[in-house]
Amino acid sequence: MAGSLGWMDWASAWIHITTETLLQRIYTCHLPQRLPIPLLNDFTCIITGATSGIGLETAKQLAEAGAHVVLACRNTAAAQALVHEWQNQRDHLSGPIDVEVMELNLLSLSSVRAFAAAWEARLEPLHLLINNAGIFSMSSPQKFSQDEIEEHMQVNHIAPALLTLLLLPSLSRGAPSRVVNVNSDMQWFGVVDPDDLNLNRGTRKYTSTAAYSASKLAQIYFSSVLECKLPSHSGIHVICVNPGIVKTNVTRTLPKIVQAIYDFFGFFSLSSLEGARSVLFCATDPQVVEYAAALRAEGWPVCPYYSSDCKPTATSRHAQNISLAFKLWEKTKEIIGLSDEDVDKLLEAANTAIAAPYFKEDIFSEPYDYDDEE
Ligand SMILES: NC(=O)c1ccc[n+]([C@@H]2O[C@H](COP(=O)([O-])OP(=O)(O)OC[C@H]3O[C@@H](n4cnc5c(N)ncnc54)[C@H](OP(=O)(O)O)[C@@H]3O)[C@@H](O)[C@H]2O)c1
Repeated sequence: MAGSLGWMDWASAWIHITTETLLQRIYTCHLPQRLPIPLLNDFTCIITGATSGIGLETAKQLAEAGAHVVLACRNTAAAQALVHEWQNQRDHLSGPIDVEVMELNLLSLSSVRAFAAAWEARLEPLHLLINNAGIFSMSSPQKFSQDEIEEHMQVNHIAPALLTLLLLPSLSRGAPSRVVNVNSDMQWFGVVDPDDLNLNRGTRKYTSTAAYSASKLAQIYFSSVLECKLPSHSGIHVICVNPGIVKTNVTRTLPKIVQAIYDFFGFFSLSSLEGARSVLFCATDPQVVEYAAALRAEGWPVCPYYSSDCKPTATSRHAQNISLAFKLWEKTKEIIGLSDEDVDKLLEAANTAIAAPYFKEDIFSEPYDYDDEE
């Protein structure tokens, strides 16, 4: 079991992150500030953490494209205020948006179960789940959730994993459907020990960077195993995406002076609108499904991983460690309290799903032009 990164992995992580940070504006310069997405009528999506940053922009654009959007948030008052604001921005020609707010606190597994039970009781199809909510508590000490899980691991991996599994029946009803996990290139620095997900055994010292990067790598492992377990005819795909270095509220826990330094280097960062592009691309573009199907057919051990330029990209070498991925899958099931039978039952729903084409082709022959709207 890797207790730390080997020097080669460490060096390639630094090279990768530095290059991405400095060059992401160049890599993404071919993209419009706001990514055109197709009309999404009769399309339902749930997005977590939509009250801020990348999630907010993503949710707003999905709603403006006509989707029924569920904002799964812990701060429901802030989410309701956003819905109100978005509705007020609409004119009589564009009509109302179809957005609702449901409470979800990822720091509590019982909140995740309650959310999933409330949603599943409707027996409605779900076409898209975006696990966007995440934390990087950079200047805080190590903290544990009420489920006694280290907070980064809980919010960024464990709770979204439970949510995804519990929503598989809805995703099957909505198939073809997608799960888009907003990941991070910090996974390059990640080391996951399934027996020490809380980073408290002393084999590795806790730092917020170690905890954040481990949680993001864990999410890739989990996504890869789920993608591999979902039958190809299910039409459900699991995709991870790195939105880039984006100026959001993610720096909120940093001391003011460090926030000022971040702002100074703002030139290299993407705006939330720009950060939402790769998430929206993974959520709606048909190429993503084709790529996912091709990877699956080849038996590639890692789920599709996209970067901020909306192109598939390589994960770190250790993200390809499929035996570790399976160990993490088992450990995750144990932590979230789902037995093999429970998970088999949830996967069984996917087994019976029959995928139809993702979108009508005519939608893509004429890309939606947002410039006309503004
Ligand atoms: N910004 C970047 O440079 C960057 C780079 C790579 C990856 N990412 C990833 O992008 C995603 C979005 O981050 P962001 O930069 O947009 O950050 P952000 O502005 O801080 O937004 C994070 C969102 O997650 C929600 N959230 C946090 N803890 C939660 C919990 N316990 N339960 C439910 N919701 C919770 C927050 O809700 P509250 O408002 O209630 O706290 C907020 O809506 C994260 O997964 C992050 O790891 C960001």
